[in-house]
Amino acid sequence: MFESYFEESILSRAKESKLIELNFLNPRDFSKNRHKKVDEYQVGGGAGLVMLPEPIDRAIRNIKEKNEGAHTIFLTPSGKTFTQKDAIRLASKEHLILVCGRYEGFDERAIELHADEVFSIGDYILTGGELAAMVVCDAVSRHIKGVLGNEDSLEGESFESALLEAPTFTKPNDFNGNCVPSEFLKGNHGKIAGLKKSMSLNKTKFYRPDLYERYLKDKG
Ligand code: 6GU
Repeated sequence: MFESYFEESILSRAKESKLIELNFLNPRDFSKNRHKKVDEYQVGGGAGLVMLPEPIDRAIRNIKEKNEGAHTIFLTPSGKTFTQKDAIRLASKEHLILVCGRYEGFDERAIELHADEVFSIGDYILTGGELAAMVVCDAVSRHIKGVLGNEDSLEGESFESALLEAPTFTKPNDFNGNCVPSEFLKGNHGKIAGLKKSMSLNKTKFYRPDLYERYLKDKG
């Protein structure tokens, strides 16, 4: 799952040029059970299986033995919502351990024992934490210097400025009768910036009233 994504994405270049290094461990390989079991019914009742603490503990210890101080993140829908701010902050960490589970989640003691942070990637449920781990890995990696060919592309991005990015256009100027805003073609960069700002505000108000309200409040 992980390898196919990281081989095909922009991050494959970052891997080749050693800007990032990825390693994968399977908790099953740390199970002492002869069936390599990593899940169990909930004690006290409750629907669904839960990840056993031992295989996860052993897997994490295996990593931490060689990488003291690795920053450990558990991925579960009951965590704090992962944001762009977290992505930027985590990009300066030397080593991240992203722990993902299947089933209904982790035995809480594994989290208590090892987690520096616990993240969800949004208010919906996935069949497993793998996609969430890939999301975090991708969002963090693009803030490591050199990973994106062009560092400018990080500027003015949605969320970096608390507002959504303005609509963007490319060629042709006239697409089936729908034209790019004429101001964009005239080359007055001050005017274009002003127009982009107002489009950015309108778009944020329409799609993300929550961000818009916060923006207005922070502006005073
Ligand atoms: Cl981290 N895991 C799962 N299974 N579902 C999620 C999630 C994580 N974040 C949002 N939905």
